[in-house]
Amino acid sequence: MDMLKITVVLILSYFSSTFSTTDCPSYCTCNFSSNTTSVTCVSLETLLKVPQNIPTQATIISIEFTNISTLTDKDFVGLLQLQELHLSNNLLEYISSGVLKDTQQLRVLDLTNNLLTTLPPNLFNMTFKLASLILQSNRLQTVNPSWFCKLQSLESLDLSNNLLTSLLSNTFNNLTNLQVLDLSSNKLEFLPANLFSKLPNLERLNLGKNQLTIFAPGTFNHVINLNYLLLNSNKLVKIPKGLFNNLPQLDTLDLSDNNLTSLPPRILDNLQQIGAKWEQGLDISKNPWMCNCDLRYLWQWLTVNFKKVYFVSTTLCAKPEALRGKEIKTLSEEELMC
Ligand SMILES: *[C@@H]1O[C@H](CO)[C@@H](O)[C@H](O)[C@H]1NC(C)=O
Ligand SMILES: *[C@@H]1O[C@H](CO)[C@@H](O)[C@H](O)[C@H]1NC(C)=O
Ligand SMILES: *[C@@H]1O[C@H](CO)[C@@H](O)[C@H](O)[C@H]1NC(C)=O
Ligand SMILES: *[C@@H]1O[C@H](CO)[C@@H](O)[C@H](O)[C@H]1NC(C)=O
Ligand SMILES: *[C@@H]1O[C@H](CO)[C@@H](O)[C@H](O)[C@H]1NC(C)=O
Repeated sequence: MDMLKITVVLILSYFSSTFSTTDCPSYCTCNFSSNTTSVTCVSLETLLKVPQNIPTQATIISIEFTNISTLTDKDFVGLLQLQELHLSNNLLEYISSGVLKDTQQLRVLDLTNNLLTTLPPNLFNMTFKLASLILQSNRLQTVNPSWFCKLQSLESLDLSNNLLTSLLSNTFNNLTNLQVLDLSSNKLEFLPANLFSKLPNLERLNLGKNQLTIFAPGTFNHVINLNYLLLNSNKLVKIPKGLFNNLPQLDTLDLSDNNLTSLPPRILDNLQQIGAKWEQGLDISKNPWMCNCDLRYLWQWLTVNFKKVYFVSTTLCAKPEALRGKEIKTLSEEELMC
């Protein structure tokens, strides 16, 4: 009888100690405070796998600058409280599809600077609360729309500095709360017209440093809350008429370092908020502007709104030869001839 009692007590104490523990994986640092438990394992070249005995009450895990190359289904099992998972600067190449099935409280996932070429289609099926997803600086060549279809809570998505060449039009369809989307430093050549049509809350969109040559008309018609749009360092040769007509909140528009020779008349007329926040808001420098009668609209706009423009004094004509290198703002109407 007594033996039985002792056994029961031993078993119970064993379980209570495994379910709430102050153990910390070796080589890591753990900080147990009232409602957050952080586990930090950084700068460990010898770490090749996620440590086994992560405390189950962990709310923040940072395993960064290690040599981990794969994540398996067992790695984060039972971490029901986990809110932030920082896995930047590892050697991750492979992530198994069930690795996040227990972490339904996850709000932040940072996979910056790894070697990922793809992700499993169902990886995020249970992470309904994910608000910030950072996939920056990997080797992603394509994005599977099924990755994001359950992420209605997502507010920020960073896909910059990957190898993306194209995107399917339904890729971002279910991201109805997205506010920030970074697609910069990829190899995107053309975007489907409806790519952003289901993102009414989008405020910041970075498409800089891609290979874009043209946009379909209407590409930005539904992102009516956009206030920050970067299109710099692409190969844009032409802006379709009315492309910016539905962007009444736009504060910053960067068209610099493209291949634009002209802008269509009235293209900037609806941008009432341009420069409202920082005084300046438009950058059109580093384009081969053709200073003839087709540029009269832009010239006129510039003479009125030059205070809202970055680098006015280096916004120059490339052609015709006689006006090459001349500042557009200083031209006279007679010089803009056809
Ligand atoms: C542990 O976490 C608490 C609360 O987040 C923080 O105030 C404290 O500075 C942390 N301690 C260490 C050693 O990092
Ligand atoms: C932690 O608990 C305190 C009060 O108990 C609360 O104010 C705070 O928001 C909590 N922090 C988190 C991250 O849940
Ligand atoms: C960790 O990875 C780096 C970079 O790939 C490599 O040079 C180093 O030898 C690896 N260290 C160990 C212990 O595996
Ligand atoms: C998008 O979300 C809705 C519910 O809000 C859901 O019914 C639908 O299946 C989701 N789309 C995809 C492709 O999962
Ligand atoms: C700029 O556009 C012209 C056609 O308008 C094209 O011939 C030229 O190659 C383009 N330059 C760059 C750097 O893309």
